Amino acid sequence: MLNIVLFGPPGAGKGTQSNLIVKEYQLIHLSTGDLLRSEIQAGTPLGEKAKTLMDAGKLVPDEVVIGMISNKLDSNKEAPGFIFDGFPRTSEQAKALDELLNNHNVSITTMISMKVPEQELIDRLLERGKESGRADDQNESVIKDRLKVYREQTEVVKEYYQRQNKSQEIDGLGTIDEVFGRIKNAIEQA
Ligand code: AP5
Ligand code: MG
Repeated sequence: MLNIVLFGPPGAGKGTQSNLIVKEYQLIHLSTGDLLRSEIQAGTPLGEKAKTLMDAGKLVPDEVVIGMISNKLDSNKEAPGFIFDGFPRTSEQAKALDELLNNHNVSITTMISMKVPEQELIDRLLERGKESGRADDQNESVIKDRLKVYREQTEVVKEYYQRQNKSQEIDGLGTIDEVFGRIKNAIEQA
């Protein structure tokens, strides 16, 4: 089983690259951001609570996203593997993911971290915000708050995987195909 954590700050290209990885390796794409936006669309109580936090660029509580991932792992028992996009985002989530996978007798194969300079991230997200309809892409101050949350709460997750010798870093600048080439190399390495 191939289980990949695709890691990086907001706008790094996690969603874009996940779509390419899914086609090449037939994995199931699990994006907690996408799952939460579906809850908002469906008008569920969970979605209503998450919306305020997401619009402000803050993280939703660990137990909420861990619960969503747990359900997805249970309902995809025959999957050839998963690509985790935007999860784990805290050390607690990383520990919980290991435990959940362990219960299914599998583990993370590799964590691929995409490195992109902050100004490029801001430019990409503002550009996407013109059409995405995502409230958290609409203004630079919320985007900067998301980057701050990443630095303060999420970046430590990299160390979690470094300690397990599972962390690989790639340059996230360049064309989408160039970046995908680097990701494929990293997957083959693992
Ligand atoms: P989430 O949906 O995960 O958003 P994010 O991490 O902020 O990341 P993005 O989706 O904005 O960026 P991406 O890396 O996927 O880049 P993309 O491929 O789209 O989370 C949203 C919110 O949900 C969070 O703030 C939080 O509130 C909540 N949440 C989600 N998960 C959570 C969790 N685990 N715990 C707690 N809360 C959670 O690309 C960005 C843009 O750049 C696109 O327009 C794309 O076309 C463009 N682009 C991509 N690649 C390139 C390239 N190589 N060159 C130029 N442009 C490019
Ligand atoms: Mg995304």
